[in-house]
Amino acid sequence: MTKTLNVAMIGGGFMGKAHAMAYAAMPMFFWPAPAIPHRKVVVDLTDSAAQDARDRFGFDEASSNWKDTVNRSDIDIVDICTPNNTHAQIAIEALRAGKHVICEKPLASTLEESIAMAEAAEASGTTTMVAFNYRRTPAVALAKKFIEEGKIGDVINFRGTYLQDWSADPNGPLSWRFQKSIAGSGAVGDIGTHVVDMAHYLVGPIETVQAITPTYVKTRPMQQGSVDKLGASDKSSDAERAEVDVDDEVMSMVRFKSGAIGSIEATRNAWGRNNFLTLEIHGTKGSILFNYERRDELQVMFAEDPTEARGFRTIYTGPAHPYGEGLWPIPALGIGYGETKIIECYDFFKAVVEGTQPSPNFQEALLTEKVADALLRSGKTGEWESI
Ligand SMILES: NC(=O)c1ccc[n+]([C@@H]2O[C@H](COP(=O)([O-])OP(=O)(O)OC[C@H]3O[C@@H](n4cnc5c(N)ncnc54)[C@H](O)[C@@H]3O)[C@@H](O)[C@H]2O)c1
Repeated sequence: MTKTLNVAMIGGGFMGKAHAMAYAAMPMFFWPAPAIPHRKVVVDLTDSAAQDARDRFGFDEASSNWKDTVNRSDIDIVDICTPNNTHAQIAIEALRAGKHVICEKPLASTLEESIAMAEAAEASGTTTMVAFNYRRTPAVALAKKFIEEGKIGDVINFRGTYLQDWSADPNGPLSWRFQKSIAGSGAVGDIGTHVVDMAHYLVGPIETVQAITPTYVKTRPMQQGSVDKLGASDKSSDAERAEVDVDDEVMSMVRFKSGAIGSIEATRNAWGRNNFLTLEIHGTKGSILFNYERRDELQVMFAEDPTEARGFRTIYTGPAHPYGEGLWPIPALGIGYGETKIIECYDFFKAVVEGTQPSPNFQEALLTEKVADALLRSGKTGEWESI
């Protein structure tokens, strides 16, 4: 019989919804499942928020006390879906209690906290994972396969962008994502880290960076409540405005250990861009393009093709591609955000059951936090900064 593992999920907002859905759906896609995720306890700030999340997301129990919950002997896995400044304390407590921990990105709100989390993970020896789900889009995993097989030769250039527009309206509310004390940083930590994670996944470690990190909207109306409304603004709001103390955008040049160069951009202020997460990778023998807004597709150009046939071709991911055995039986039926979280859940549970570490675990994701820290430092100094 397939084993069951009890999950305590901390935070019942946007990511709580995505993770709860993945726990329910993972065995429906990947069967036999490595283990069945059992939605045991959900924790939020208040009893009523937790009870609401319990009823909505299908957990047995609700709690407003994360500390007691992560120390319960009947909990196997702790899942952290709370704002960034809470990740370290919850994760370290859970690791000391011997739990396996999956934590939303970014790893933490400061580099010091991230280092402490990586050390606690090392000491506990349990399985950890940071939820960089975009690298689990089948088309991105296919890009990785092609790069590893040498299909585009040696990578010489990586261009990554993550452009959104939900904070372009200056009257969008000042949620936790615009407060350094909670988020740690703005576009850099929130979405730039996804691009850095994919750069590491596809090209390898980044060694030095130079960045510009402006803040365009200096004040915003204060938002009530703990769940980020992601830019939804009440235009008649007369809420008091408060200072934004994080970056709105990062524009950067990077150098990889391999000798490859690249650029990384991230902003939540690009009107008309929704989830424009793009990769363009040039190698000595070809190129690869990916755009998350068309995430069933990978565009490839192989220089070894006959001259008259050279050009980009579009591959629609399906059963022949990474994770295809678990997903839909026909290419281009549609990969969504949900599928990336289901795959993430599968890879995490598989690692827990096998006693291994998925990629990226806390120690590996620390490198992404070091790059984020260097981007922020360079934004201040204007200089090239080392990792
Ligand atoms: N992987 C991705 O694509 C992705 C997308 C969005 C957010 N995230 C990350 O997920 C995390 C959560 O973001 P979100 O968008 O779900 O936020 P959210 O504002 O929608 O939800 C956060 C939830 O945590 C609760 N909470 C806050 N402090 C708590 C505490 N101390 N104990 C228990 N509950 C607490 C809030 O009440 C709220 O329900 C962040 O680290 C964010 O960066 C990742």
